Amino acid sequence: MERENFGSKLGVVLAAAGSAVGLGNIWRFPVETGQNGGAAFIIVYILCIVLLGLPIMMSEFLIGRSTHSNTAGAYRKLAPGTPWKWVGRLGVLSGFVILSYYAVVAGWTAEYTVLAASNYFEGKTTVDFPRIFSELSANPWICTLWMLAFMVLTHVVVVRGVKSGIEKFSKVMMPALFVIILILVVCSVLQPGASKGVEFLLKPDFSKVDGSVILSAMGQAFFSLSLGLGCLCTYASYFGKDTNLAKTALNVSVIDTLVAIMAGFIIFPAVFSAGYELNSNDVGPSLIFITLPNVFQQAFGAVPMLAYVFAVMFYFLLVVAALTSTISMHEVVTAYVSEEFSMKRRKAAWIVTIACSVVGVFCALSFGPLSDVKLFGLSIFDFFDYVSSNIFLPVGGMFIAIFTGWYLNRKFVKDEITNGGTVRAPYFKAFIFVLRFVAPIAIGLILLNQLGVFAFL
Ligand code: PHE
Repeated sequence: MERENFGSKLGVVLAAAGSAVGLGNIWRFPVETGQNGGAAFIIVYILCIVLLGLPIMMSEFLIGRSTHSNTAGAYRKLAPGTPWKWVGRLGVLSGFVILSYYAVVAGWTAEYTVLAASNYFEGKTTVDFPRIFSELSANPWICTLWMLAFMVLTHVVVVRGVKSGIEKFSKVMMPALFVIILILVVCSVLQPGASKGVEFLLKPDFSKVDGSVILSAMGQAFFSLSLGLGCLCTYASYFGKDTNLAKTALNVSVIDTLVAIMAGFIIFPAVFSAGYELNSNDVGPSLIFITLPNVFQQAFGAVPMLAYVFAVMFYFLLVVAALTSTISMHEVVTAYVSEEFSMKRRKAAWIVTIACSVVGVFCALSFGPLSDVKLFGLSIFDFFDYVSSNIFLPVGGMFIAIFTGWYLNRKFVKDEITNGGTVRAPYFKAFIFVLRFVAPIAIGLILLNQLGVFAFL
């Protein structure tokens, strides 16, 4: 079967950035920043991106591009007859699990877009929003239908293939996303009282940095960059020979980090301007579904039109950002099923969509009818979220670092990074050092700590 490639360099960067930029940036990042003390957390986060994120992303890129394979096939080709293929398979499993619950949250953003567009939020006050959200998340029909709708939307793009599906979609949607984000940042920062929010994001207080802040920053870096599950490895398998891997990784990381920080600049100035206190529950996981719609009403209430436009744009933005990410998770699994079981892409995509939808239904019901079902003390949704982002992704990332740093031939790695000696890589020694020592040790310690094996932080 002839394998597709991305058509242009811009397409490569925008598709990979589309995967990275998602609910992780706009929903999860502000929550983590709010709970971990603001500017100081952001600095630790950026350190994690540079020290761990960049080198591991480059490793995923080189593994994918050199083999032109799905992530499990890639390890099979580079390390035939060894257990390394299990790193790829773990990635496929992670993609499957994350897609199943991520589509539920994505579904909520779609429902909120519709609510915002039908002007449902007008005149609602602080007491109404918690109720609106808990009614939505407990409603089995709405949650399931939106989750399914999101799966189908994702399916439609993936089935069209890499160039005319994923690349084309990302090329239109990513620039649109930036424009919306910029408008929202400007609106938010201009609100009266917004400067306190700006200060929160820019003035670090390092006394707040402790072990758990570092943990959260690393977890957030992996999740946000789509790292550790072979997602970017799969995308890289469609890169051309002349794609500059280091530069692409740098571009994607910069875009992803900028979007996260800009999301902070949308949310915190608006939150402060509406008079919220940061140490309350207002900045918990419900931030974008309970606090924010209220903020829109409070902050722009005097100009209902503005409150309306702001809310519709914001939730639509979330839908788009989520979709370019679900596409990438779907692609990891679809490429695997199609190539490892020699199946037509269309058929493989259907199998993935149906299987993820079935698991997704359980996640969708996990706030309503199934809220009493507990796995290891967590609801189905929380269990999937915990296992995939806190365990699977870091474990995957650690093994990717070890594989590139220790297993692969160093000349081979250098050839890939420099495109056969045509681009310079003065940082190469440092890159290998990080992959061999820094990344595995740091991630290993943090994981052991997280699993409660021992507490060092
Ligand atoms: N990076 C995406 C986000 O920030 C989530 C994601 C994780 C996508 C893993 C693909 C793989 O929302």
